[in-house]
Amino acid sequence: MKIVHVSSEQVPLIKTGGLADVMGALVRHTASRGHDVICFLPLYRVIQESEAFKKAQKLHSLAITVGDESLVGEVYRLKLAKHLDIYLVGRDEFFDRTFPYGPKHRDYSDNDARFIFFCKAVVDTLVLENIHADILHCHDWQTALVPVFSRVEEAQTGIQVSARSLLTIHNLAFQGIFPEKSFQLTNLPASFYGIDSLEFYGQVNFLKGGIFFSDAITTVSPNYAKEILLPENGCGLEGVLVRRQDDLYAILNGIDADSWNPLKDTLIVAQYSARNMKGKAENKIELLKMTGLAGDKDTPVFGIVTRLTDQKGIDFILKQKSFLSKNEVRLIVLGKGDLKLEQGLKKLQKQLPEKVYLSFEYDEVFSRVIEAGSDFFLMPSRFEPCGLNQMYSQRYGTIPLVTCVGGLVDTVIDIDENSEEGTGIVFEPNEAGLKKGLHRSLKLFEDKARLKAIRKRGMARDFSWKIAAIEYEDLYKQVLSGESQAHNP
Ligand code: ADP
Ligand code: GLC
Repeated sequence: MKIVHVSSEQVPLIKTGGLADVMGALVRHTASRGHDVICFLPLYRVIQESEAFKKAQKLHSLAITVGDESLVGEVYRLKLAKHLDIYLVGRDEFFDRTFPYGPKHRDYSDNDARFIFFCKAVVDTLVLENIHADILHCHDWQTALVPVFSRVEEAQTGIQVSARSLLTIHNLAFQGIFPEKSFQLTNLPASFYGIDSLEFYGQVNFLKGGIFFSDAITTVSPNYAKEILLPENGCGLEGVLVRRQDDLYAILNGIDADSWNPLKDTLIVAQYSARNMKGKAENKIELLKMTGLAGDKDTPVFGIVTRLTDQKGIDFILKQKSFLSKNEVRLIVLGKGDLKLEQGLKKLQKQLPEKVYLSFEYDEVFSRVIEAGSDFFLMPSRFEPCGLNQMYSQRYGTIPLVTCVGGLVDTVIDIDENSEEGTGIVFEPNEAGLKKGLHRSLKLFEDKARLKAIRKRGMARDFSWKIAAIEYEDLYKQVLSGESQAHNP
């Protein structure tokens, strides 16, 4: 099959969160199964400045109509592996910037124009380069207008852009919602600004358009696929998703088991495996040294690596001062994001400087040392479409403490609920739930034999992409052979 992926992040070129990890691994696995894979990304500054980009070849220039303007851009091609090409859509005004979406605590005010330009450039390139994709697979709101624009292109020109399209929702909380006036930037017929199309409570919603116009919609864990059909988690789109329910699928994310492998990871201090855990203890000592926190092998260390947003339940952690003061534990946080959450964490650290360490950087190396060196990994998310760190933790022999939401439910089994198979501690998404989980983890920490067994069990689990890549492939085949129920212009 010829499969085109469109996303706004992909390792190793650009990453702000889990989407990048998922894209990097998914496309590599699909290509290694013999399919021709083309990926589209915006040509961000970090990509333009990367070593990899030096090998890119300019394909063509484009003139894209965005509202009243005709905006020029360029498309480059970069060969990443056999069967795997990256197409980079460049326009310096939009993408030669420090951040992909906006400076630290806010979005760029022209994100509507930036991603409309990107989506239109993708469709134009698919036509110009005669790509004729079997599957056009888009990810999240930044690319959700691609299926809309491609249907319109097909209706207007009679040229097929792709046989079928898919939209994967990695996080329904981000929908690409813009003021009504942004609609004119799409140049779509006025009928598209309607309740059955892009209109959403008087605004424009890119993701909503993608849900209606894609042949299939997927999300990243079975439990999240159920949750988003309900008002509590549907973020206002539950009605739209219920209407497309027959075409809504769930494929659980995998992890890149080669990259996230404690036996091969060169970013950590000492490599280790389930058979020889000596290296894990060395990473713990290194982690304590790096953070300047006192402690030894008998001091329970809790790690967290996360975007600092409401989603991640950081405020539940802020309320654990009494647990942290009463117990001889350490808390190490690596996170970037909301200012108010940074401030809250700083306050906690000031009250307990000998127990809490904070870094507000984006730091890949430190994130791996935390995974390897911590005893427990905290993910008290309010909601979590899938989550990757709980899988990385299990692979690194670190016990995940997770809430009973989204993909966390699909990937972590509670040690009390199933003592034969449990690999983590699962709790309710609130302050009391986290407190209970923390106390349970201390009890487990005292029982060294059980702790060891649970760590090993986690390390033995297979979260690799092998399974998910085949599931996507099967879904592509199914969608290709079935009738389309998507909206048509
Ligand atoms: P989300 O995509 O919602 O942020 P995931 O758990 O799917 O959550 O993926 C987050 C990814 O981003 C993980 O690979 C995690 O290690 C990484 N990450 C998040 N914050 C940081 C940070 N400050 N430094 C390094 N890596 C980070
Ligand atoms: C999103 C979600 C996260 C998921 C990731 C990759 O960022 O918040 O739960 O793991 O996408 O699909």
